[in-house]
Amino acid sequence: MAEFKREHWGSKIGFILAAAGSAIGLGNIWKFPYIAGENGGAAFIFVYLICIALIGLPVLMGEILLGRTSQKNPVGAFRALTKSKFWPLVGFLGVIAGFTILSFYSVVAGWATGYITEAVMNNFSLYNETASSGEHFNSLVSNPYWIIGYDLLFMAVSMLIVYAGINKGIERGSKILMPMLFVLLLISMMRGLTLDGAQEGIDFLLKPDWSRITGNSVLIALGHAFFTLSLGMGAMMTYGSYMSEKDNIPNAALQIVFLDTLIAMMAGVAIFTSVFATGLDPAGGPGLIFQTLPVVFSKMPGGYIFAIFFFLLLTIAALTSAISLLEVVVSYFVDEKGYARHKAVLIFGGLAFAVSVPSALSFNYMADIKIAGLTFFDLMDFLASNIFLPLGGLLMSIFIAWRWGLNNAVSAIKKGAESLFNKHPYLINLWIFFLKYLSPILIFLVLLHSAGLLKK
Ligand code: PHE
Repeated sequence: MAEFKREHWGSKIGFILAAAGSAIGLGNIWKFPYIAGENGGAAFIFVYLICIALIGLPVLMGEILLGRTSQKNPVGAFRALTKSKFWPLVGFLGVIAGFTILSFYSVVAGWATGYITEAVMNNFSLYNETASSGEHFNSLVSNPYWIIGYDLLFMAVSMLIVYAGINKGIERGSKILMPMLFVLLLISMMRGLTLDGAQEGIDFLLKPDWSRITGNSVLIALGHAFFTLSLGMGAMMTYGSYMSEKDNIPNAALQIVFLDTLIAMMAGVAIFTSVFATGLDPAGGPGLIFQTLPVVFSKMPGGYIFAIFFFLLLTIAALTSAISLLEVVVSYFVDEKGYARHKAVLIFGGLAFAVSVPSALSFNYMADIKIAGLTFFDLMDFLASNIFLPLGGLLMSIFIAWRWGLNNAVSAIKKGAESLFNKHPYLINLWIFFLKYLSPILIFLVLLHSAGLLKK
């Protein structure tokens, strides 16, 4: 059959960086600290780490494997591996999840982008008290022009990168941006640790208060494990589809999980040392980093440069994630519906922006419009993190273990990882056990809880 040769990653490190770029984003730097802060710190982080290790890692390996084996977008992947009409819908759920996530993601990424300007204009020096910094944040987000304008700017840049394609756009971008991000975060962490009173922040991160753990916080921890690893909606499947059989999937997955967790922890240290050193409230909600860090920056030597760096870093991290979200949607329409890439980027990037407008308006005109008790913004986040992604991960695990067949899965995962599995054959059994029993059961239980919450 005359088929175009599918684009591939130019190098092994290209895939790792791009996949880590997808994983590492607002989830690590904006969301993780604020939900850890709201759910009591160390104990929540512990549950989150368990979810990452027991569910995240095995499902991540499975998802990348489905992409590599089929060499297809999430819908095409299921079509290629089974005749059933049901399973491709799982891929389609991923395309929907992509829109849902982008809808609130680009809004917060827009805040980060807008804060670069704030930092450059030295506006933070005017707001060196938490209360006034909070007011400043509120007045910015209550301005629909500000919030939608930066949302649009951010989406436009993401579209430009996806437009340029895999090697030229995503891979090249990630190779430069990811190491830069790491260095900037390291500096932020050092600054946090050397502030007077940093110890209290460290205690908050390390000393668990188990009484804070509830069914709800377990749900949030699991949902966040999926969100932060870009799992359950086909982003990793899509990136895996640009991999070859020579690549070692278990190794790659482990590196992605390690880097993602490392960055979240570094962000946690940087933010909580600062929060406590300045006597701020760790449970400050989605505005946490935007309301608290400017105060910290304004109070430290070199804070001017530092603030610019920090928000630049946050925007870069968001960008490498947003492009993977958009890529899922685009690759579906390119592969399955025959769209030209640039046309798919324009249409669906534009559509994703349109869906983000009500999320942006949730902070001003639509603040009082609640669906199931949540604003549109919160609803999108809830649906994606606590329902779509875990459900997608659950179905992928079931597909691999029970439908595609373990024989197929095992022989496929061994490709590129022969020496690892020859040395440690039990690892295969462990992976199978997790995928076949542990993750489906755990995710199912948590989803039940989630369904109960929605009813309330
Ligand atoms: N993992 C990204 C983050 O932590 C968000 C994301 C979720 C990206 C799902 C792609 C797919 O910010």
